[in-house]
Amino acid sequence: MKDNPKFSEISFWDQTVRSHSANNRTVPKIMASFIIVLSLTYIFYTLNFIFSPHSSCDQDLPKPHEQLKSSSPITQLAKSPSGSAQTHNTQVKTSLHHIVFGIAASAKLWDQRKSYIKQWWRPNEMRGIVWLDKPVSNDTDEDNSLPPLKISSNTSRFKYKYPKGHRSAIRISRIVSETVRQGMEDVKWFVMGDDDTVFVVDNLVKVLAKYDHNQFYYIGSSSESHLQNINFSYNMAYGGGGFAISYPLAKALEKMQDRCIKRYPGLYGSDDRIQACMAELGVPLTKEPGFHQFDVYGNLFGLLSAHPVAPLVSLHHLDVVEPIFPNVDRVQALKRLKVPMKLDSAGLMQQSICYDETRFWTISVSWGYAVQIFRGIFSPREMEMPSRTFINWYRRSDYTGYAFNTRPVSKNTCQKPFVYYLSNALYNAHTNQTVSEYVQHRVPDPECKWKMADPSQIDRVEVYKRPDPYLWDKSPRRNCCRMLPTKKKGTMVIDVGVCGEGEVVELPRQRKT
Ligand SMILES: *[C@@H]1O[C@H](CO)[C@@H](O)[C@H](O)[C@H]1NC(C)=O
Ligand SMILES: *[C@@H]1O[C@H](CO)[C@@H](O)[C@H](O)[C@H]1NC(C)=O
Ligand SMILES: *[C@@H]1O[C@H](CO)[C@@H](O)[C@H](O)[C@H]1NC(C)=O
Ligand SMILES: *[C@@H]1O[C@H](CO)[C@@H](O)[C@H](O)[C@H]1NC(C)=O
Repeated sequence: MKDNPKFSEISFWDQTVRSHSANNRTVPKIMASFIIVLSLTYIFYTLNFIFSPHSSCDQDLPKPHEQLKSSSPITQLAKSPSGSAQTHNTQVKTSLHHIVFGIAASAKLWDQRKSYIKQWWRPNEMRGIVWLDKPVSNDTDEDNSLPPLKISSNTSRFKYKYPKGHRSAIRISRIVSETVRQGMEDVKWFVMGDDDTVFVVDNLVKVLAKYDHNQFYYIGSSSESHLQNINFSYNMAYGGGGFAISYPLAKALEKMQDRCIKRYPGLYGSDDRIQACMAELGVPLTKEPGFHQFDVYGNLFGLLSAHPVAPLVSLHHLDVVEPIFPNVDRVQALKRLKVPMKLDSAGLMQQSICYDETRFWTISVSWGYAVQIFRGIFSPREMEMPSRTFINWYRRSDYTGYAFNTRPVSKNTCQKPFVYYLSNALYNAHTNQTVSEYVQHRVPDPECKWKMADPSQIDRVEVYKRPDPYLWDKSPRRNCCRMLPTKKKGTMVIDVGVCGEGEVVELPRQRKT
C-alpha cells in the first residue's frame, strides 16, 4: 500500500480510509495564531457593541453560560426522573444517562485522537468506554476528561480473509458485545463511534428519544459516496459516522456476534460485519441523516452550509478534510462550533434562505456556522443542494459519485458566494434570543461586471434567533430568515426563526431594468 503513513490507520469502524491517502495541508501556525488574536479582539469589540447600545457598561453583557442553563435541552432532560431503578421504562424520557458509548481507538493514534473526544465528552454526565488494542500511558489529569480506557480482548481465533484490509476490524466490530458484557444498568442505547467521531450530544439524545428503545433498532447513516454504498451496503450504518443499537437488539447481537463474525471472514471492515449480523437478525438500518461519515476530501463547506433538515448528530473524518473554519486548526475549529452548539444545538447548521429584495441578493444562513451572500436570485431548491466544495472519496469530482444531489461550484465569478464564518455567539436572556456574529472570509475578489450591489461591502452579519429546543419534536421544516433594517455600516442583520403563517420563501420579482 502506498499510504501516507500518518493516515494509514486512521479509521476504525469504517476503515475505508486505509486504501486512500489524504491531503495533508498544513496551516502556518504563527499566521493562524496571529489571525485568531486579531479576530478575538474584533469579536470582543463588536459584541460589546451589540449588547450595549445605550451604555458601555459591562454589566449589560449577558453571561451566556449562566443563562444557557435555563434553556438548554440537556438541563431540562436532566430534571426528568432518570437514574431510577426503572431499567426499561418507556415512561422515562431518554436522556444522556441512558446512553453508553463504545469508542474504537488504537494506541498508536491515541495521543492525537483523544483531543477530538475531549471536545464532546462530558465526564460526569456520560457513560462509555474507549476500547484500545494496547495499553497506553494514561495520566490522571486526562482520566478526568476522557472516558475510561479498556483493552479489547484477543481476537486471534477469528479468521480475517479480506486481502487488503486489516484484521483489527474484528476487534472493533466486537466492541458492541464487549460493551454490553460490562453489564451497566439503566441502559437504553449503545452508541458506537470512532476516536475521530465528534457527537453533537444533545441532538443525539433527541434523535434516540424518538424511538422505542424496547424494540430492535439499528440507527445510523450511509456514506456520502455512492460507490462506497454499493461496495459495502446501503443497509449499513457507517461506523465512523456513529450508530446506535437499542438495548434489546444489542443483547441479541451479543448472543450471536462471535458465531456471526466467523461466518464472514471475507468482509472488509467492522461496520460491514455488524451489518451482516443485523441482516441475519433481520433488522434493517433506520436512517437518520444527521449522522455523518463524511467519506469526502477537501472542504466540508458545501455539505455543512446545506445540511438536510434534520438534527446534526455527528461529524467524522475531520483529519481527512480541511478544518471546518478557515485559518485555524481542526481542534480550534471544533471549539468554536461548541459555542452555538451549547446555545441552541437543535438549530446548529440548520439552513434558512432569504433574499435582499432591494440589492437583489440571495442569503443562505447555516445557523452557528456560516452565512453566504450571493449576487442574484437562486431558488430554494438550488440552495438546499450542497455545492461541491469537496471531492469524492474515489478522488473524482464527478457528481454521479454521491448518494444525494449536489450542485457545482459556479464558474461565473459574479455568482461566487461571499462567505461569513461564525466568530462568536451569545444568548440574551432579556429577549430569549441568541445573537451570532459572522465575519467575512476575505479572499481575492474576482472581477464581476454585473451592475448590482457588491456584497463585499458587508463585513459582518448578525443573526438573531430564539433557541428552539423543541424544533425536532415538530415535523421537519426549514426555518425562515428575514433581513432586518440596520443603520450599522457594513453590517447585515438577519432574524431566523419558525416561519410565520403563510410565510414562504418566495423569489423576488425580476428587477426592472
Ligand atoms: C491506565 O492506568 C491504569 C492505572 O495506572 C492502568 O491500570 C490501566 O491499564 C491503564 N489503561 C490503559 C488503557 O493503558
Ligand atoms: C492472543 O491469543 C493467541 C493465541 O491464543 C496468542 O498467541 C497471542 O499471544 C495472544 N495475543 C495477545 C496480545 O495476548
Ligand atoms: C469499490 O469498488 C471500486 C470499483 O469497483 C474498487 O475500485 C474499489 O477498490 C472498491 N473498494 C472497496 C473498499 O471495496
Ligand atoms: C425561549 O423561547 C423558546 C422558543 O419559543 C421557548 O421554548 C423557551 O421556553 C423560551 N425560554 C424562555 C426562558 O423564555
